[in-house]
Amino acid sequence: MKLHVNVDHVATVRQARRGREPDPVAAAVECELSGADGITCHLREDRRHVQERDVRLLREVVQGVFNLELALAPEVLAFALDVRPEEVCIVPERREEVTTEGGLDVLASRPRLLEAIPRLREKGILVSLFVEPDPRQVEAASAVRADFVELHTGAYANAPRLGTERELKRLREAARQAHGLGLRVNAGHGLNVRNVAAVADLPHVEELNIGHAIVSRALFVGLREAVREMKALLAQPQGTP
Ligand code: PXP
Repeated sequence: MKLHVNVDHVATVRQARRGREPDPVAAAVECELSGADGITCHLREDRRHVQERDVRLLREVVQGVFNLELALAPEVLAFALDVRPEEVCIVPERREEVTTEGGLDVLASRPRLLEAIPRLREKGILVSLFVEPDPRQVEAASAVRADFVELHTGAYANAPRLGTERELKRLREAARQAHGLGLRVNAGHGLNVRNVAAVADLPHVEELNIGHAIVSRALFVGLREAVREMKALLAQPQGTP
């Protein structure tokens, strides 16, 4: 299971003072030195954390996979086509939200996706769609010819104890369905050292995108240790066929 570290919240701390530190690009180097397989960031339309400068430098500096999250806004899409990350993950975005609160409505976004996905793929960029573990959304992701779905693990991560199994079952079924349709599968959102093991055990999932928990933990144990810890949890033997 691959670990992609999302460095948005390193940029959040920097933007608190609109200065130069801490630099998400330096953080990305530290993460890769500690075993991260890739780096993710989200260029939000309101530029609340990551800036264009970060994306351009990350594209140069990241040695593993560089994954850019973006909403389907023409200006951000044009920027992605110019920068050419290895992967983009298309997410829904609302200005008033504190984080990406739900999956993309692939059915409602179908016309715009049918226009954007071929343009991205033409540039050699792999396209992932961030979706709820909902069979209709997975089916629609396959119909618009995405390469990956990234399954939104927020409902699992936030579920009260008794609801966890139900959410895991939805994730497991969505992963199997996506794989059956020829889609590759990633997952992420709200994962931390306490809840990640069950997600790492899901069938067919290749990459986990984890941000807030790693950056938070880094305040106490340092970024290198926070990444190593998470990576070690993902390296445990997996059981679910
Ligand atoms: N995956 C996607 C598509 C996201 O939008 C986010 C949050 O930016 C994450 C993963 C990471 O979520 P978290 O910061 O809760 O680990």
